[in-house]
Amino acid sequence: MAEGNLSPASIADGLETRFIGQRIIYYPTLPSTMEVARREARQGAEEGTVILADEQTAGKGRLKRVWLSPKGSIALSVILYPSVVYLPSLIMLTSLAVAHSVGAVTGLKSQIKWPNDVLINGRKVCGILIESDVSKKVVNYAILGIGINVNQRLSHFPDILPTATSLSDELGRDASRLDLIRHLLVEIERLYLTLPVGEAVYEEWRDRIVTLGNRVHVSSGKSRYEGVAESVARDGSLLLRLSNGSLIKIVAGDVTLRD
Ligand code: BTN
Repeated sequence: MAEGNLSPASIADGLETRFIGQRIIYYPTLPSTMEVARREARQGAEEGTVILADEQTAGKGRLKRVWLSPKGSIALSVILYPSVVYLPSLIMLTSLAVAHSVGAVTGLKSQIKWPNDVLINGRKVCGILIESDVSKKVVNYAILGIGINVNQRLSHFPDILPTATSLSDELGRDASRLDLIRHLLVEIERLYLTLPVGEAVYEEWRDRIVTLGNRVHVSSGKSRYEGVAESVARDGSLLLRLSNGSLIKIVAGDVTLRD
């Protein structure tokens, strides 16, 4: 049977986290969880506060794109107050947390496409948007925005069908958003708490990126490059080997596999 609306009480019930998801602000529908998260963070909301919506009417994607968040998908934002040195790791830990949770709840194997898309069988199942407010090397707040295509049929969204998928399309049945969200919150906290003790998050993220070793097109702002995606640096940037042999660092952009 299809799941109805999400229940914040069911998500929080016995949730094994210290702070992530201990406060959940839920909306059946709203323009974007990012806006509410920003407002809450500016008012000093507790670290780990989650803004969750069953449906967004003006979901925000990276690079000012629109993100479709119909009913049946997951749209949430998590408020954090990390040290500035951990900012680059937020992209890494969020995509890993999604990949781990999708695997644990559905058994589906996912890949990470630089910088922060989670793919299944080469198609995007999750988009991540990290926003932060930093002044004088102090992070006022950071927000992890996570959108997962769960129980929507992508055949209803022909514009994104060629490049996107959903968990239900991959599984041939619906997946439990409740289980996924609970796993995800636990996993985000677990990975976040490992940041001060080593490089495990960076190393696993690097090793799961499908883009590496491939010939790619990269668009970054107004620039376009073609080369071999050689590696990713600890600050999250992509190292691209151009045909003239030089290695360039791409801080933000979009990658398309060439063949
Ligand atoms: C992307 O791949 O372009 C990033 C998409 C991020 C979407 C999520 S859904 C929850 C949060 N609220 C938003 O408006 N956007 C992010």
